[in-house]
Amino acid sequence: MTRPGSLRNWNDNEWQLHRASKDRPKEAIDTFLSWCSAELEVLHRGYQVVIRRTPRLEGFALMAARPLLIYGAGGHAREVLGIARAALNVEPVALLDDFNPGRTVSNVEVITYADAITRFPDANILIAIGDSPARKSLYHRALSDGLTPLTLRAPGVWMSSTASVGPGSQIFFGTAISENVVIGENVIINFHCSISHDVVIADHCTLAPRVTCAGNVAIDCCATIGVGATVINGSAGKPLKIGRNAFVGAGAVVISDVPAETVVAGVPARPLRSSA
Ligand SMILES: CC(C)(COP(=O)(O)OP(=O)(O)OC[C@H]1O[C@@H](n2cnc3c(N)ncnc32)[C@H](O)[C@@H]1OP(=O)(O)O)[C@@H](O)C(=O)NCCC(=O)NCCS
Repeated sequence: MTRPGSLRNWNDNEWQLHRASKDRPKEAIDTFLSWCSAELEVLHRGYQVVIRRTPRLEGFALMAARPLLIYGAGGHAREVLGIARAALNVEPVALLDDFNPGRTVSNVEVITYADAITRFPDANILIAIGDSPARKSLYHRALSDGLTPLTLRAPGVWMSSTASVGPGSQIFFGTAISENVVIGENVIINFHCSISHDVVIADHCTLAPRVTCAGNVAIDCCATIGVGATVINGSAGKPLKIGRNAFVGAGAVVISDVPAETVVAGVPARPLRSSA
């Protein structure tokens, strides 16, 4: 592994610590997870990590040994940037915006995607775009160009040891993820969501702030659940289903299955329209 140039406040002691732990990376990661409430994992290329002591966390933080790119330069991207900085003291090398490059946002350079993969071909990436289908397509583009998706888990997230989160997913502050929850790739779980037992959230889904999802629910690929919505429970072996590309409006209470490609809203949630 080459010494990364994108990390701030890097010093020789930290580098030595990394070298000492590199032969036993799994143990180093377990130590990190037991000591800290924040993590940034390199999932696609094994345990190519740097272990670094941070005064803020008084423990060890797990640092990616590659430059970090954030796809997007809007509100969600600034939030992801803030979490990366606050939790991990990581400074992204660039934000990506194909339509409005050549500026800085939150003191980070904004460049195009094409520019990014030329300058940082081995970078880690977080896709910070709120729209689920758009995020899906950008994610696959980044993977096919050889970039590595990170999983970003903010401090203040509680997650059961029986739950799992796929690469590229972003879990924001204040969220609780309970027993046997399976979260796919490139999913956004925004601030203060509550995900109860036996919930499956497929790839590229988006949960806005303060979504409450009771147990035994299956949310299919690219579905979006609006801010403050509530999804009641299904039952074991018969989960309540929210279909592919469905959109649940803000504040809705979902009490029955939502078909694919359908927008629902209200209490209880009823279809507004469908493109199925
Ligand atoms: C549901 C939603 C997608 C509908 O948007 P839209 O297609 O533009 O719908 P419109 O604003 O044209 O409203 C259509 C009708 O639905 C109603 N409606 C819209 N959103 C509603 C909601 N969340 N709850 C209840 N009724 C809603 C409108 O009042 C309107 O009713 P009317 O025809 O009787 O006047 C949108 O309102 C919404 O809730 N988006 C989620 C936003 C969110 O959570 N963002 C997260 C950011 S992190």
